[in-house]
Parts: sequence; structure tokens; C-alpha cells
Amino acid sequence: MTNRVYNFSPGPAMLPEQVLAKAASEMLDYKGSGMSVMELSHRSVWFSEIMDDAQHLLRELMHIPDNYRILFLQGGATMQFLMAPMNLMNESKKMDYVNTGAWSKKAIAEAKKLGDVKVVADSSDKTFSYIPVIDPYEIRKDAAFIHITFNNTIYGTRFTALPDTDIPLITDMSSGILSEVIDVRDYALIYAGAQKNIGPAGVTVVIVRDDMIGKNANLPSMLDYKKYADNNSLFNTPPTYAIYIAKLVFEFLKKQGGVEAMEKVNREKAKMVYEAIDNSKIFCAHVASEKDRSLMNIPFFADSEEINSRFLSEAEQNGLLTLKGHRSVGGMRASIYNAMPLEGCRKLAAFIKKFDSENA
Ligand SMILES: Cc1ncc(COP(=O)(O)O)c(C=O)c1O
Repeated sequence: MTNRVYNFSPGPAMLPEQVLAKAASEMLDYKGSGMSVMELSHRSVWFSEIMDDAQHLLRELMHIPDNYRILFLQGGATMQFLMAPMNLMNESKKMDYVNTGAWSKKAIAEAKKLGDVKVVADSSDKTFSYIPVIDPYEIRKDAAFIHITFNNTIYGTRFTALPDTDIPLITDMSSGILSEVIDVRDYALIYAGAQKNIGPAGVTVVIVRDDMIGKNANLPSMLDYKKYADNNSLFNTPPTYAIYIAKLVFEFLKKQGGVEAMEKVNREKAKMVYEAIDNSKIFCAHVASEKDRSLMNIPFFADSEEINSRFLSEAEQNGLLTLKGHRSVGGMRASIYNAMPLEGCRKLAAFIKKFDSENA
């Protein structure tokens, strides 16, 4: 018996209990090595197998075509705000971005240090509560790429239609990866910090199309995709334990029926929580438009600060933790990544209903 809670944290977030149990069982002696994974050389046969399995499983789960490389890097998604433009930039130094919130803004700020950035669509006028329409004529024909934040962790929106363009598309998929079926071929580059839907903090997954690697010569080695691609992500010591946990998560997802099955459950989970909010008298969802609503992060709030803080403390007493919203939106935010069981969302929805009926 464990006393685990339902943790609605935006990240680092819940991991599947089965994964944690498996890691615990292998902690002291990984497959007869007499060592924990943390103590294994990254060049050992044991770790090589972990690395190969992690890549194969992710390729299988996301149906990643052969002309894409999977890299395991460090520095978080934030490092990719810089590394992606450095690697993909062309001679025009033009880069187009869609601004859908705090993480997009940070990506834009880094790219501006490198070249000519144009924001082609922006939803700041309504506190990023919707996904803006992207006029294809706004996208510059000689831009090296267009960048979107697939799922907006803070504001709770997600893209359900992609920009209509031939320009390479880059996405920050930190809070959306593996949560729903996507077509990798739509993207030239996908990057994601692990600590939401992949594993522990410390590893960043980059899925990059072959022709995007090695475009710019003389980059600092640690910032060059080519160095990692040529060395199977072993250019230097990779975050071995984080990659091992990611591999266990991928195995877990495969056993659940893959991303297709996760999407089905994730839709059900999000629907349950949104319905409770939409049917309540005192709570309001930050994102009104159903089509733009994230399946992973659901910000909501009551008009009164007193009610918000009472909701949070009573939720905590009921084993529903880390529901406090981001300071820029306020209120509450339920992050319900793959590892959040359906039961956790059922409990949260029931708690919202009960709280509403007692306080409306
Ligand atoms: C969409 C998105 N991008 C980037 C980041 C930053 O990631 P990291 O802390 O791994 O750099 C986050 C973190 O929450 C995020 O949600």
C-alpha cells in the first residue's frame, strides 16, 4: 500500500506508478550487473540497450519515419529555444513565430538574439485564451521556419490545425508529446522537455528530420544537432537515468495500447473535468473555445480569491494536490498528463461539483 496522491502538477509531473515500481525493483542491481542504472557507464552494453530500446519504442509509439533522428539532449526545452534556430537558420536569418503564451514568448526572445523574427499570429489580446488564426500570407517565403508551441501549458490551449505553408514547421511539444496522435511528417523538428509526459526532468527529446541536421557549420559542439546525431546522443555523457525512466514510460505506454489508446483516455479525462467546470455556477474555464482547449492543462477560476484559495486547500485535504494556477492566470490549473489516472480526473470532477453545490 502506498499513500500516493493525485498530483495535478504542470511539471515535473506524475509518473505512472508501475514505472516507479519497476525502477525501484531494479534500483540496486540492474539485470544482474550488480549496479544501479545510475552507476552504469554510458558506453556499457546495458546502457546501450536502454538507449536503443528508448529510441525504438518512441519511434514505434509516435510512428516516427526513418528519415527522422531521435536525440536525447540536456538543457530542457529552454535550451531548444536557442538551439533550434541556431541549427535551422538560413542565410536570410528570417524566422517566423506564432505567439500563444509565455513559452512562445521565451522562444521568440531567444530567436531575436540570432536573427530577424516576425510574429505572424498572436493571441495576447485575450490573455492567450485562444489559438490565433494564421494567415498564410503573413508567413515569409524565405523564412527558415515557422515555430509554434503545440500545447500551451500555462494558458491551456492547443493547436488542432497547423499553419498552411511549405516552410519547415518547428514545434515545442513539451506538454503535448505522446498525449494524442500527431503526424510527425508535418514537422521538421519537434522538441520536448521530459518532465511532463516522458519522464523525469533532465532529458529533452528532439525529433529532427535528416535534412535539418548539419545546415549550419561551425556551431559550438554542444549546440550542434549533428554532433549528437553522429554520436547517437553520446557526444558527451547523456542523462542516463532520465533516459532509462523514459524508456520505462515508453514501455508502459506501449502496454496501454500506445498513443492511440492514451488519446482516447485523455479525451475522456479532459471532458470530465471541463464538464464539471462548465456546469458549475462559480467556476469558469480560461479557454472558452472547445476546439482550442488543451487535453493536458485545464486552467479555471472563480471570481473571488477567497473561493480560489478555499478550493485549493479543501482539494488538498481530499488528496487532490498541486492545483494552484500559474501566477499569470491565477485560480487553478489541472494538469492531467498521461500518468494521471482516469480515477484522478473523476475525483477532481466530483470535487468541483460538490464544492460548487456547497458554495454557489
Ligand atoms: C511548453 C513549454 N515549453 C518549455 C518549457 C520549459 O521547459 P524546461 O524547463 O524543460 O526548459 C515548459 C515548462 O513547463 C513548457 O511547458
